[in-house]
Amino acid sequence: MRFDIITLFPELFAPFLASGVTRRAYESGQVQVRLWQPRDFAEGNYRRVDDRPFGGGPGMVMLAEPLRRCLEAIRAERAESVPAPVVLFSPIGRKLDHASVARWSESQGAILVCGRYEGIDQRFIDAYVDQQISLGDFVLSGGEVAAMALLDAVARLQPGVLHDQGSHQLDSFNPALDGLLDCPHYTRPESWQGAPVPPALLSGHHAQIERWRRDQRLEITARHRPDLINAARAAGQLSRVDETLLARLAAAQD
Ligand SMILES: C[S@@+](CC[C@H](N)C(=O)[O-])C[C@H]1O[C@@H](n2cnc3c(N)ncnc32)[C@H](O)[C@@H]1O
Repeated sequence: MRFDIITLFPELFAPFLASGVTRRAYESGQVQVRLWQPRDFAEGNYRRVDDRPFGGGPGMVMLAEPLRRCLEAIRAERAESVPAPVVLFSPIGRKLDHASVARWSESQGAILVCGRYEGIDQRFIDAYVDQQISLGDFVLSGGEVAAMALLDAVARLQPGVLHDQGSHQLDSFNPALDGLLDCPHYTRPESWQGAPVPPALLSGHHAQIERWRRDQRLEITARHRPDLINAARAAGQLSRVDETLLARLAAAQD
């Protein structure tokens, strides 16, 4: 899959693509990334990419025309029969979640537009943007961090990118498992600042370890995200043993 990223700050992506999981996905070619600087498509000696907003007010607005030319160059290079969607990162957008990341991880990729300043001339958005994605109900200085969040989440779902293949399947929110939150993790030493590792994890008893982990997932999810418990129940992913534990937890709260 290929992501073309339109950004006024392409240099922000260099360390991100050179490290860890994203480096492995990028170097293996599973997630191709091309960075595009709209300034390269701007006119005049100053290669202007922004201007003051009509109607006055603070800040600057990204010009539509350099973005349009940049997009045209990307389209020409991608030369796809089904054009890749154009995605704008924006507080207006739908919040990124596991389900949409999973869909992106099996897609052809996208053209990602990172806004800056007050945002982008609305006429470019109306003409070319297919969907908008938000990272949450807060304002970032630019879409680059949101683009990195999407790329990172997509990269770790690619086969062979994580050292331990099964590990993302056990992560939080995986609907193929149960959609619950992950359990706590511990490593050496067995006692740290007087706090021991839960005995079940040291038992060497596979079934006991699995049951402890399952109980922890249920307890943590019931406490922090009861909506996910309801979804797992509706999907038939809770066993009788699970339900007994949940009933006991609920009774303890009353
Ligand atoms: C300073 S922000 C513009 C904020 C805009 N004036 C507003 O109040 O909604 C500049 C750019 O950062 C990106 N951005 C800001 N917050 C974001 C969020 N929550 N999710 C995704 N992208 C965001 C967008 O691309 C936006 O165009």
